[in-house]
Order: sequence, then structure tokens, then C-alpha cells
Amino acid sequence: MSDKKSTHVWAGRFSEATDAFVQAFTASEHFDRRLYRQDIRASKAHAAMLNRAGVLCADEYRAIIDGLDEIETEIERGAFAWSAALEDVHMNIEVRLTERIGEAGKKLHTARSRNDQVATDMRLWLRETIDEIIASLRAFQTGLVDLAEREAATLMPGFTHLQIAQPITFGHHMLAWYEMLVRDEQRLVDCRRRVNIMPLGSAALAGTSFAVDRDQTCAELGFDRPSDNSLDAVSDRDFVIEFIAAAALIMTHLSRMAEELILWVSPLVGFIELPDRYCTGSSIMPQKKNPDVAELVRGKTARVYGHLLTLLTLMKGQPLAYNRDNQEDKEPLFDTADTLHASLRAFTEMVPALVVRRERTYEIAHKGFATATDLADYLVRKGVAFRQAHEIVGRAVRYGVEQDKDLSAMTLEELRRFSVAIDEDVFAVLSLEGSVAARDHIGGTAPAQVRTQVAKARRRLAP
Ligand code: ARG
Repeated sequence: MSDKKSTHVWAGRFSEATDAFVQAFTASEHFDRRLYRQDIRASKAHAAMLNRAGVLCADEYRAIIDGLDEIETEIERGAFAWSAALEDVHMNIEVRLTERIGEAGKKLHTARSRNDQVATDMRLWLRETIDEIIASLRAFQTGLVDLAEREAATLMPGFTHLQIAQPITFGHHMLAWYEMLVRDEQRLVDCRRRVNIMPLGSAALAGTSFAVDRDQTCAELGFDRPSDNSLDAVSDRDFVIEFIAAAALIMTHLSRMAEELILWVSPLVGFIELPDRYCTGSSIMPQKKNPDVAELVRGKTARVYGHLLTLLTLMKGQPLAYNRDNQEDKEPLFDTADTLHASLRAFTEMVPALVVRRERTYEIAHKGFATATDLADYLVRKGVAFRQAHEIVGRAVRYGVEQDKDLSAMTLEELRRFSVAIDEDVFAVLSLEGSVAARDHIGGTAPAQVRTQVAKARRRLAP
């Protein structure tokens, strides 16, 4: 037993100082200082409410506001002396306030606990972060729509099972990516509705005996409404989980895009080129130009999945109400946001700058009998049943494989060996252009449809 007295704000009950290891083990200021702006903002709103409620007199209130403003400047100048002994961002700021303004500082924590304080700070922080990420998502969507318009009529092979399936337009492919990001945005908008609820006033767990006006702080902080249950409000971090789940899906989509970009720049495929400024070289192989940025986005997806599992596991065993476990929510949340910001930034700059090697995508689209379905559809229009048409075209393809000849390269005579229903007009459907142009309905790959969808996307993206 040490006879050193505790110097903490909660020292009253303690007869010895906290063990140095425990102090370091429990401290969070080195990462939760990132919440300082939200912490100060919420404290100012709380002080204004206490002033109206008569808990703080006008002078005390003024001193607190000025003191908090000065502390914010101190932190921003890098002049703030953060202390692990003061555990977290909340205590660091509160103790500094009292240092600066004296007794009035000690009154700020009336009718409040760090439990409702931290939940409030987190929600303020996440709300801002969601707004920033939505803006980034929309910037990337805009880039994809521009690219889709540029390549609306560019022909390429579409794949299933990574086998050449049917011709598509490059623009159509880019708009598939765009659609993923639209749903990602909707998920964030939906998540934000549940984030934007105010725990402040819940105090430690049961509420407070002071006559707090939660509607006042709520309006001041721009929350939609105060929470309806104090135990739930200080305890649950489901809003963090929801956000990370939405983030994990965004990363899933970016990772799928990364996978295709990596495949497409491979010399084995050669569909696109990425700008040099977004690639890196090899330390040993002078010829290499590697798509490392895309690979890292794919790789970073793993850490966001990890954060999701961390948060789910963090929550599952917690009895009501607040438990210190919740301090572990911050690093995964911050890293998720940072990873998303960086990945979206990388793709927003890199993807619209890619160059499609149109002659190459065209050439490969010709290789895999990509218009076989068009020939079958043609036979159906000539009165052949689809199953029979499928069989006929299958035989034509087998012949093509043997002769190393695409369907469109066969003569009418050759084609008629498989069905006499085939006439001169077949060549219009066997061309790649004819194939994509025929898919001219909502959601189809025809250049005209791509342009229609581009226009629709632009209306959606208009500010
Ligand atoms: N730093 C803590 C957290 O992040 C908030 C403080 C609550 N501490 C407490 N002993 N009740 O969750």
C-alpha cells in the first residue's frame, strides 16, 4: 500500500494513488482528444442551459464560455498540455478550465456525467463525419458518372464467372459501380437519423435531480430530439456499429472495384491504364507499374471488417448501463472513418482519370462468342423455340472454336449449316454494336440507356 494521496478529481473516496500502470492502462486522452471540439461545444450548450436554469450565474457562465474558447485555441495551437493522469479528453478540458477561471469551472459538471458527455461527443463527432463521408461519396459518384458518359458507347466484354458472357458498354459498367455507391449513401443517411439523438441530460445513468431543460441543449446542439431513456442513452453504441457496418459495405464495394481495376490493368487483360501518379514501381523490376493504390484499398477493407467485429463483440456482453468497455469504441471508429476518407479520396481522384484502351476491350469482346445469345434470340424471332435455338447456337460455337472463328466472322453459308432460318440480316445482330444497341430498355446496356441513366444521375447529384 502506498501512502501517496490520489490527485484525481475523484480522489475524495480514495486512500492511495492510482498505480502508474493502471493510470496508463485506463487513459484514453491520447486518442479521445480527437473529440475536443465536440466536447467543448457540448459543454458550452450545457453551461448555457445551467445558466438559464439558475445553476450558474451570468458571470460564471461568461467565464466558462470564454475559458472554453481559450482552451479550444490552446489545443488548436498545439499549446495544450495533455495529461494521461487526467484520463480522458473530458477531464483534461475540465481541469484546465478550472485552472484558468477558478471556482466557476468546478460548477460546469453539475447535472452531467462523463457517461452522457462522452456519448454526446461521440454522436456529434459521428454526425459530422457522416456528412463528410456523404460528400466524398457524392464526389466519387460524380466522377463515375462523368466517366460513364465519356465511355457510354465503348464496347467491352461483360463477364459472368469471369468468362466472357455478352458485350456491354464500359459506361454501363461504371454506372453499376455508381448504383452501389447510391445505396451506400442511403445507408449513411438512414444511420444518421439514429445517430442524431441527444444523450446529454442522462447524466451517469438515471438522469439528474436538477431541473435540466434538455430541449434547450438539444436545439443548441442541432440534435433531432433528446433520448427517451437515460440508461439506454449512456450505454448503447449500436449507432457506432451501424456506422461501421455501413462503412464495411462501402469498403466491400470499393474492394470489388479495386479487384476489377487490378485485373483490367494486368497486361493479361489490358483494358485500361491508370495514371502514373497513382501507381508505384518495383525496387527490383524496372518495367513494373503496379496498381498499389487499388490493392491497398482492397487490403484496407479488411481492417474495417475487423473494426465491425470489434464493436459487435465489445457490446454483446455489457449489462446496462455504462461500462468502461465502451472506451474501446473510439479507436476502431476513428480508424474506420480515416480509412474511408482516404480510400474514397484515392478512388475519386484515380478512377475518373483512367484511360480505356478501347481497341483492346473491343478486340477481347470479339473473342468469347459474346454475341451467341444474340444469335439465339434472332432464331427465336424467326420462329425457332428458345431451347432449340440454344442448341443450334451451341453447335455453331463449337464449330467456331474448332475453326478459331467468331460467329460474326462466319459466312452466311457457314451459319446456314446450323439452321436454315438464318438469313443475311443475321449480321446486324452478330456485331457488338448491334448486340448492345438491342438492349435498349430501362437498366439495359445500350449506349442510349447509359446516357439516360447519366442524365438521371446528374439530376440526383445536382446540389
Ligand atoms: N473515457 C470514457 C469513455 O470513453 C468516458 C468516461 C467515463 N468514465 C467513467 N469512469 N464512468 O467511455
